[in-house]
Amino acid sequence: MIKAIYPGSFDPVTNGHLDIIKRAAKLVDRLIVSVLENPHKSYALFTVEERIAHLKQVTKDIGNVEVSSFKGLLVDYAKQIDANVVIRGLRAVTDFESEFQMALTNRSLMQELETLFIPTSIEYLYLSSSTLKEVAMFGGNICSMIPCDIKQDVLDKFAKQGE
Ligand code: PNS
Repeated sequence: MIKAIYPGSFDPVTNGHLDIIKRAAKLVDRLIVSVLENPHKSYALFTVEERIAHLKQVTKDIGNVEVSSFKGLLVDYAKQIDANVVIRGLRAVTDFESEFQMALTNRSLMQELETLFIPTSIEYLYLSSSTLKEVAMFGGNICSMIPCDIKQDVLDKFAKQGE
């Protein structure tokens, strides 16, 4: 059985992430989408609980996907849940160096953990959570960047910050 983990910050989940989730879910038996609880990322827009709720909402119709969070090293969490594959999306060549380094580091810590890179769909090549937040902050249209279900939460968050 292939049990894969798709780790990330997901602050917030974008259409690019959702595209990777849907495609990865077809390749593996179980896919655990897991939010990193990062103590250093105090500038996050959404709490870990909010990000988990978003991910659960947008993946509710995909049968083999579960959502969780983890702290510390990814390899330790992978061992804990018995995952043998890490999924990561690749956009441009610029992603490659850091992703390659992460994959090699993880593999040096856990030999049986393979990283599977999925190239982004072309329409999401430019998209990241940071880009999306910047567009939303300045009132731009984020409809094509984020699942409809959570678009309003992003707009509400920025509206609250502006109060
Ligand atoms: O969405 P992101 O921010 O690109 O995700 C990065 C993430 C969460 C996959 C990465 O930072 C991670 O796995 N952090 C956990 C700490 C760890 O295991 N570090 C060693 C590998 S570099």
